[in-house]
Amino acid sequence: MPNDHDHPPAKKFKPGSVFFRYDKNKSGMLLPRKGNATTPIEVQRKQLPIYQAKPQLLNQLRQLHNAILIGETGSGKTTQIPQYLYEAGIGRQGLIAITQPRRVAAISLAGRVAEEKRTQLGKLVGYTVRFEDVTSSETKLKFMTDGMLLREAIGDPLLLRYTVVVLDEAHERTVHTDVLFGVVKAAQRRRRELNKIPLKVIVMSATMDVDLFSEYFNKSPVLYLEGRQHPIQIYYTKHPQSDYLQAALITIFQIHQEAPPSHDILVFMTGQEEIEALARTCRDIAKHLPDGCGPMVVIPLYASLPPAQQLRCFQPAPKGCRKVILSTNIAETSVTISGIKFVIDSGMVKAKRFSPDSGLEVLAVQRVSKAQAWQRAGRAGREESGSCYRLYTENEFDSLIPMTVPEIQRCNLSSVMLQLMALGVPDVMNFDFMSKPSTEAVRSAVNHLELLGAVERKEGQVFLTALGKKMASFPLEPRYSKTILLSPDYSCSDEILSIVSLLSVDTVLFNPPAKREEVLAARKKFSSSEGDHITLLNIYRAFKKVSGNKEWCRENFVNSRNMGLVKDVQAQLRDICLKLNMKLGSCGSEMGNVRRCIAHGMFVNAAELQPDGSYLALDTHQPVSIHPSSVLFQGKPAYVVFNELLHTSRCYMRDLCLVDADWLLEAAPEYFGRKLHPSKS
Ligand code: CDP
Ligand code: MG
Repeated sequence: MPNDHDHPPAKKFKPGSVFFRYDKNKSGMLLPRKGNATTPIEVQRKQLPIYQAKPQLLNQLRQLHNAILIGETGSGKTTQIPQYLYEAGIGRQGLIAITQPRRVAAISLAGRVAEEKRTQLGKLVGYTVRFEDVTSSETKLKFMTDGMLLREAIGDPLLLRYTVVVLDEAHERTVHTDVLFGVVKAAQRRRRELNKIPLKVIVMSATMDVDLFSEYFNKSPVLYLEGRQHPIQIYYTKHPQSDYLQAALITIFQIHQEAPPSHDILVFMTGQEEIEALARTCRDIAKHLPDGCGPMVVIPLYASLPPAQQLRCFQPAPKGCRKVILSTNIAETSVTISGIKFVIDSGMVKAKRFSPDSGLEVLAVQRVSKAQAWQRAGRAGREESGSCYRLYTENEFDSLIPMTVPEIQRCNLSSVMLQLMALGVPDVMNFDFMSKPSTEAVRSAVNHLELLGAVERKEGQVFLTALGKKMASFPLEPRYSKTILLSPDYSCSDEILSIVSLLSVDTVLFNPPAKREEVLAARKKFSSSEGDHITLLNIYRAFKKVSGNKEWCRENFVNSRNMGLVKDVQAQLRDICLKLNMKLGSCGSEMGNVRRCIAHGMFVNAAELQPDGSYLALDTHQPVSIHPSSVLFQGKPAYVVFNELLHTSRCYMRDLCLVDADWLLEAAPEYFGRKLHPSKS
């Protein structure tokens, strides 16, 4: 972790009438961009910082069972280490797994490594992400999401197919990676005890704070890669900004007017909607710039973007044109984009927050940690010196928390607990976590699973039930798998599978705020007074009827690629159902059954209308509101179940389904006995 002293002194910039005025001190920093696209791939490989260290690295990695490898983003860890191991014949008896927190990264890295090895993707080099498996019997280097390796561990807790597991991007501390730490550690030990082929575990991180990793893996050695970070000029705003979107916009155009066009800009924002809105505004403004100001291409980058569109950020802009990438924290470490000279950091990130008291997990826009802010700044200094504009004051920076809290300490653990039990972990309450979640969070998760009927307690011990075992076969949150498993009782499996698939694929609908009226008009045809789930289903059915016609998608603000994915997801979920011998069928147009099934599966997320017109979450009595994007926004249904909570100015319920109080009572009589007030409605 670089500390403040490693960075050049900060320069202030102050708001001007139109643009912020930054102090100009860029002399000598504006170098021409180095050609990269034309350099042959073998030469590129040899130019990576890691190449210098290859012999020593291999020497170490050959002997060690555990190693921790640190190197700046872009130094070549992820793409090279698996190849080095493979080429040196290390771990040849099995597969080398490389885990990634994000599917985009797993897919694009596998593509890059296949290209470097000049093989077709899916042969020697492949990837496995949820709902997509591009591997074959020839695959030796397997990029996968951390979640997928965890799922594989359910069938094979010793991970016997693998000889090496590389846990990459460990500094991100995603909940899946954190659980994997424990799983691989246990597998290593068991394999030793059983005299099986040893498992080598390599933990890779882009930040220096790895004492915890080393401690956890029996004081394993830490290998440092020499960085190649160029100096970065940091700028802060003079005053706190109330609107970071506006501040970002102004900063983008100020840079655009002043800097040579070959210098690309990377802007860190928080989420898809915000990024799409900013992209549109940028494109609009770019059309009306004064003479002498070159063109710009604006490229959004977020996890739910279809892979082909994500890859656009790697392509160089046409000559004389500036590339402006608007990204979520995805570009912090897991993807490396060349040509970035300027970073604009909103200082915000959208992340999960969980309160065990209320039992609710919410997605909220919050401040980044210092470590994240430095990572973001670092993206500007990869190839030459650069600048980072922080859209917050130096004081605000000083008040940031030093490190991001691991996700496992701020998320709902029910999914993780279910998986651990399916893995056969004897005592989930005392699993060997690197950073322990709070006892309340674990207890709250186990309670949740008990409510869903996935676990039961006997003599103080927690056991997986038959239902729980089935639930763990789906790569879904427990409440979704429960809903699917219930669906045959209501003869609506086809509908439920469609709905769960629609909810599992991010954003099948576009909701551009600037076109709110048009969107509403277009959605009207499909809109159901029974809620968003049914509305989504109507849209999906219409989409299938027109066979995904592109024109239709555009007119109806439907994301055709993501809709296409829904079909694949549904097919895979259906396969799992068939393996479980479930009777699948459709209820046609009778949506009452579908809602009833949803009520029975998702009753924990229910809310009740209050006499004053507000809503209370039944579980926690927390005040909640209907999100404006919901079809139920105008109405005042007495009872709803919702999919998720989004915390902005208020706590909003998203994706709602109209339900009857009776159904909730039927679903969990004891649980709701005390809480429901149907007489009020
Ligand atoms: O893992 P680490 O951040 O250390 O680096 P890497 O992901 O192995 O990337 C090393 C280099 O490979 C990057 O600087 C890019 O030039 C290149 N790369 C690429 O062109 N396309 C990708 N999808 C991934 C990496
Ligand atoms: Mg990497």
